[in-house]
Amino acid sequence: MSTKSVRNPLRDERDKRLPRIAGPCGLVIFGVTGDLSRKKLMPAIYDLANRGLLPPGFALVGFARREWADQDFEQVVYEAVKKHARTPFRQEVWDRLAEGCRFVQGSFDDDVAFDNLVETINDLDRVRGTGGNHAFYLSIPPGAFPAVCRQLARSGLSAQTPDQWRRVVIEKPFGHDLSSARELNKVVNEVFPEESVFRIDHYLGKETVQNILALRFANQLFEPIWNSNYVDHVQITMAEDIGLGGRAGYYDGIGAARDVIQNHLLQLLALTAMEEPVSFEPAALRAEKVKVLSATRPAQPLDETTARGQYAGGWQGGQKVPGLVEEAGFAPDSTTETFAAVELEVNTRRWAGVPFYLRTGKRLGRRVTEIAVVFKRAPHLPFDSTATEELGENALVIRVQPDEGITLRFGSKVPGTAMQIRDVTMDFGYGHAFTESSPEAYERLLLDVLLGEPSLFPMNDEVELSWKILDPVLKHWAAKGSPEEYKSGTWGPPSADAMMARSGRHWRRP
Ligand SMILES: NC(=O)c1ccc[n+]([C@@H]2O[C@H](COP(=O)([O-])OP(=O)(O)OC[C@H]3O[C@@H](n4cnc5c(N)ncnc54)[C@H](OP(=O)(O)O)[C@@H]3O)[C@@H](O)[C@H]2O)c1
Repeated sequence: MSTKSVRNPLRDERDKRLPRIAGPCGLVIFGVTGDLSRKKLMPAIYDLANRGLLPPGFALVGFARREWADQDFEQVVYEAVKKHARTPFRQEVWDRLAEGCRFVQGSFDDDVAFDNLVETINDLDRVRGTGGNHAFYLSIPPGAFPAVCRQLARSGLSAQTPDQWRRVVIEKPFGHDLSSARELNKVVNEVFPEESVFRIDHYLGKETVQNILALRFANQLFEPIWNSNYVDHVQITMAEDIGLGGRAGYYDGIGAARDVIQNHLLQLLALTAMEEPVSFEPAALRAEKVKVLSATRPAQPLDETTARGQYAGGWQGGQKVPGLVEEAGFAPDSTTETFAAVELEVNTRRWAGVPFYLRTGKRLGRRVTEIAVVFKRAPHLPFDSTATEELGENALVIRVQPDEGITLRFGSKVPGTAMQIRDVTMDFGYGHAFTESSPEAYERLLLDVLLGEPSLFPMNDEVELSWKILDPVLKHWAAKGSPEEYKSGTWGPPSADAMMARSGRHWRRP
């Protein structure tokens, strides 16, 4: 009897649960002395090693201008791991990781430094068995991306063979507008084919963001009402309560829309609004995101459908806080916005007529990221108007962070002899439903880079389409001059409320 068709469901189940472990490889971090590398990348690498997801001979190479020996670098990684790792410190894991740490000193315009890097990598292939497979993480000022890509090409480090992969990881911002994004993609794609380019949008590494796909496409409950017949509008918010002290170098001249809307919020919109992909293969998923982003544009007129603000000094959490222009490093006449809101339309059969409102800001009321799908009111209420006066719209809120989970809001009878209806919520919390703690976004994304799994990384088309959506808004704002002021600790400038009030809607106060 043939055994070919015999399927053991228990075994299949077990196979799916096997951890995904990276094959032999190494990671080179450019800009290894920087903030991102210390706070996120080094700890994530240790956490992956601690969870047994890195190959035994894994190698970590740091590249920066400091005059460090390998031991100095090792010490820096050690301190970053001790301070920021998510999982407990284990000496044997650390010892194994430390054996594979190397440092190459040099600047991006220094050919000799890159030739030294080639030697270091060749040596690691010999002594650590990294097999010629290496990822290059550009954790550096965005202006330096082209120079490093060209050096990787010149030195031969970007060259792949059928048995040896080379990948590049790029941090946001991916350009400043559509034309600079196209230019950057062109330079990067001259050196690395698109399937070897991993653009990090760390929001896509969050469990709650991946859960949007599970919620929509693994259930029968939500998808039938996920359209303009039932949905009134969608609000996507990323609010922070902190200011920009110490981040002027990065933020001044960039602003909230470029920093957050172009990447994180438009990716959240794409996952919320896209059609079901034919499979979860990367190409199929990305194709749906590209389709929905192609159909998205700002609602008009921009004076009424956008809002822009800059935080002024004030009180927040019982503390006196400075305004943006009093923060170190910002010009006293800086026109950089710290709050941005836009109304977008998604011109598809599913979404025509449903506004998508995106907003982000610093020094707002609280730190929260959420997607709120707000439903239309029931067409008829067979109650006295006094019975339902406290009733809002039904809403499904995906809480991306903090307090990760999902809330469903609906009307319920207030206990008592009268028929009175008020909003109540039904809550799902990750922390309550699952015992496993979620990995950090950078853990998931770094592992995907090493495994060559590109689903959670925006591709060049998505990046360019996002800029195409945002460019007209940025041009409109640039022509208008200074942004409106808002008090720290509030929910943005008055124009943000006005843009909603015109259609009788209001922002949620999360
Ligand atoms: N920090 C975050 O949380 C965060 C979040 C999202 C995205 N990002 C992005 O991640 C990247 C890194 O951010 P970061 O905050 O870590 O930046 P950072 O603290 O300013 O670090 C920049 C790094 O680049 C190196 N560098 C600069 N010019 C160099 C040159 N000519 N030759 C060699 N090395 C050079 C510096 O090394 P030296 O020691 O030699 O100066 C330093 O290690 C940026 O693209 C940023 O936009 C950061």
